[in-house]
Amino acid sequence: MQIITLIQTKGGSGKTTVAMSLASAALAKGEKVCMFDGDVNQQLLGWQTAYEEADWGRVKKAPWPVTLTIKQPPASVEDLYAEVEALEAAGTDLLIIDTRPGTYKDTDDLALVADIVVIPAKPAQAEWRLVLSAFKWMEDLSKTISDEDSFPQVRSVLANVPTKIINAAARVGGSKLPQHDKVVLDNLLKTPHFDTMLPNSRLFEHFLHHGPLPVAQYAHRAAKGGTLMANNFEDLTVICISLYDEIKGSAA
Ligand SMILES: Nc1ncnc2c1ncn2[C@@H]1O[C@H](COP(=O)(O)OP(=O)(O)OP(=O)(O)O)[C@@H](O)[C@H]1O
Ligand SMILES: [Mg+2]
Repeated sequence: MQIITLIQTKGGSGKTTVAMSLASAALAKGEKVCMFDGDVNQQLLGWQTAYEEADWGRVKKAPWPVTLTIKQPPASVEDLYAEVEALEAAGTDLLIIDTRPGTYKDTDDLALVADIVVIPAKPAQAEWRLVLSAFKWMEDLSKTISDEDSFPQVRSVLANVPTKIINAAARVGGSKLPQHDKVVLDNLLKTPHFDTMLPNSRLFEHFLHHGPLPVAQYAHRAAKGGTLMANNFEDLTVICISLYDEIKGSAA
């Protein structure tokens, strides 16, 4: 079982969205997924209810996938490690841990149990220094444990990225971007990061409504006139799978 923990010092950076994206990728691969919602706003814990209550109009909703469970993380470190063992024994392929913004002790524990810690980085001027502070937090945390070899890998992922920035990142020197965007992009790309970026998309914004991407994709594919939407969900799923494959490759 792979364990991925999302952390950030800053709120609204995309932790929960990246968590849902990775769950979507793993479900698309037929994997068994568990998510821990370590945030006080309990957005993930409410995901299934929000999905079930959403009005999809003429499109027939599929049942919530039985291969996805969402729980609160255990309160103590002992219970956390016991739960991880139980999930592993139950054949879980992936555990994704979402956390609250800010540097809290409970988040330290949720980071330490991971194979890989992912720091979502929104490419905005006001945010990139907070990405560095999240890396510094993890570096300081790594010094507090006796066996540094067992410390998770730490990488950023550029999340909620406007198309013009994705296009510029593919070009040498990131040409045609306003200077402030270029500075932010250059600095983020200097951090240890995954190459796959998550684009800004309405479909990501409405995750609570449509549920995991493959679920929405298949439901729309089966609906009359739903092909275009199904294709949109599929395109995003491909991007999420690319990120998930990169993460799995780096933790191996
Ligand atoms: N790729 C994206 N495209 C469009 N909207 C996005 C994208 N990623 C995140 N958002 C939106 O940005 C907002 C913040 O994202 P999200 O909730 O994932 O961040 P967070 O780090 O979990 O926030 P918090 O710290 O409050 O828990 C949400 O409204 C979300 O829908
Ligand atoms: Mg969140």
